[in-house]
Amino acid sequence: MTKVLSAVAWPYANGPRHIGHVAGFGVPSDVFSRYMRMAGHDVLMVSGTDEHGTPILVAADKEGVSARELADRNNRFIVEDLHALGLSYDLFTRTTTPNHYAVAQEMFTTVHRNGYLIEQTTRGAVSPSTGRTLPDRYIEGTCPICGYDGARGDQCDNCGNQLDPTDLIEPHSKINGETPEFVETQHFFLDLPALAEALGAWLDDREATGTWRPNVIRFSQNILEDIRPRAMTRDLDWGIPVPLEGWRDQPTKRLYVWFDAVIGYLSASIEWARRLGEPERWREWWVDGTVPEAQESYYFMGKDNIVFHSQIWPAELLAYDGRGSRGGEPGKYGALNLPTEVVSSEFLTMEGKQFSSSRGVVIYVRDVLSRYQADALRYFICAAGPENQDSDFTWAEFVRRTNSELVAGWGNLVNRTATMIHKNFGEIPAAGELTEGDEALLSDVRTAFDTVGGLIARHRQKAAIGEVMRVIGEANKYVTDEAPWTLKAPEQRARLGTVLHVLAQAVSDCNTLIAPFLPHSANAVHLVIGGDGEFVPMPRIDEVDDLDGGPGYPVITGDYSTTPAWESRPVKVGAPIGKPTPVFTKLDHAIVDEELARLTQEAG
Ligand code: MF3
Ligand code: ZN
Repeated sequence: MTKVLSAVAWPYANGPRHIGHVAGFGVPSDVFSRYMRMAGHDVLMVSGTDEHGTPILVAADKEGVSARELADRNNRFIVEDLHALGLSYDLFTRTTTPNHYAVAQEMFTTVHRNGYLIEQTTRGAVSPSTGRTLPDRYIEGTCPICGYDGARGDQCDNCGNQLDPTDLIEPHSKINGETPEFVETQHFFLDLPALAEALGAWLDDREATGTWRPNVIRFSQNILEDIRPRAMTRDLDWGIPVPLEGWRDQPTKRLYVWFDAVIGYLSASIEWARRLGEPERWREWWVDGTVPEAQESYYFMGKDNIVFHSQIWPAELLAYDGRGSRGGEPGKYGALNLPTEVVSSEFLTMEGKQFSSSRGVVIYVRDVLSRYQADALRYFICAAGPENQDSDFTWAEFVRRTNSELVAGWGNLVNRTATMIHKNFGEIPAAGELTEGDEALLSDVRTAFDTVGGLIARHRQKAAIGEVMRVIGEANKYVTDEAPWTLKAPEQRARLGTVLHVLAQAVSDCNTLIAPFLPHSANAVHLVIGGDGEFVPMPRIDEVDDLDGGPGYPVITGDYSTTPAWESRPVKVGAPIGKPTPVFTKLDHAIVDEELARLTQEAG
């Protein structure tokens, strides 16, 4: 048993999330977490909405509401969507809680005390016409590193490098096009060069495990070569106050949103433990030596987040622990563990284009879930998502995969097995002597537990679900070969019982194998083949009071202690089987044109 921290990227609360987001961080982290629980590990899966920073401020300004109001609304909306997708967070919270503020400030204070935050005078951008500070990401220009002309003041999306606005060639405001003025301002910089050696050693150690995706480790090592101090404070009035004398009360100095967002993994773990009434429990995942078990942490995200998880966050942790070249002592939490693995996906495009809410190239999670089954979307993401290369969502492919793989493959196997048992026996029949063919199918299914489990543990979910679908194909072939409908004579009744028993067992095992991917339908299939209650636990939304007197908010949480084990379970002979209703809905081809028309409408 291992203590497994599933750390899932925090979606921005500046608007609703689209399917590209949940394909990157959402579904893959849930498949992994569900599997690891089934395999007997002690999983803590945390995340929340990322509510500070400029995007939220700008969106709020546009609507004429406060940042807090906008964050409240989007937090609730995102919570509802992620819950509807069945994502099994132990705690999905938000970055605007007093608990998060306190943890982020404790990190800042200790990193500062250890000498890794240096105060420097720098030049900040202001808009000449309004006099307001111009946030980094609202300045555009040419990237000094790769020459891309759409680089932003915080980051170049073409080469992935982090930038400062003053680095940009020909900078201009994205809001009104004017050239920003740069004025002197004081900020705290994270002394990344003083942490570079420790970061490099950590990455080398990680590379030696051979488990990271090659592009992620390579990218992470490359960006170490040009490492510079990075500003961790901003001229902004929306964010966490800087917890230092002379700074705390300045209304326009705040922590950089990325400095605080990554700390969310820790603050959410602490909040989870406090809500449990065992406030120190989070240490079991974070502090080496707290428990006899091994501790591992997996961070899930899209590739535009890699730098923050393989450089900034580990640097914050090393600085907190006092493990850089300036030395130091860990703060009150003790020495915190660095990530075991940064699991990053590539990008999902849609109908061949990059997602863009402003250009109408977007499908929101809410809209998909209002018209289609959550597991149809989950299936598409697992089977055809951007796991290790960019992939494309098209409505035609969504319909094809749903109909020919989910409905005609898995759904059909479940449905005809249950129908034949219902019609002929009304309950799961006992098996007589097994033929070679019977044994072959059952052993193929049983062997899949190791194969599929191993693939999920190594973040090869496409191959994993492919293997489950192959086994389902074998079971469907068994039905065709055995042709149970021909076994009509009284002397064939025992053989019919055996065949249907073998099929019930195969369906039951395949349902266990597919449960991490398709939890909603795993519960439905469980009932169809004679089980009772909930097979796999589902998350719920709780309206909670704030722990420190702030306003209440909704969280996603759940009791996952009844998770079934990752193993074959013998079906119960005599379990009644009713007339089944199909678990998956077949899609009409007409929806392809309907959905494409919706897209153009929204764009126009
Ligand atoms: N909000 C960021 C995004 O959507 C992700 C933040 S991940 C965190 O790209 F760990 F920093 F919170
Ligand atoms: Zn660039």
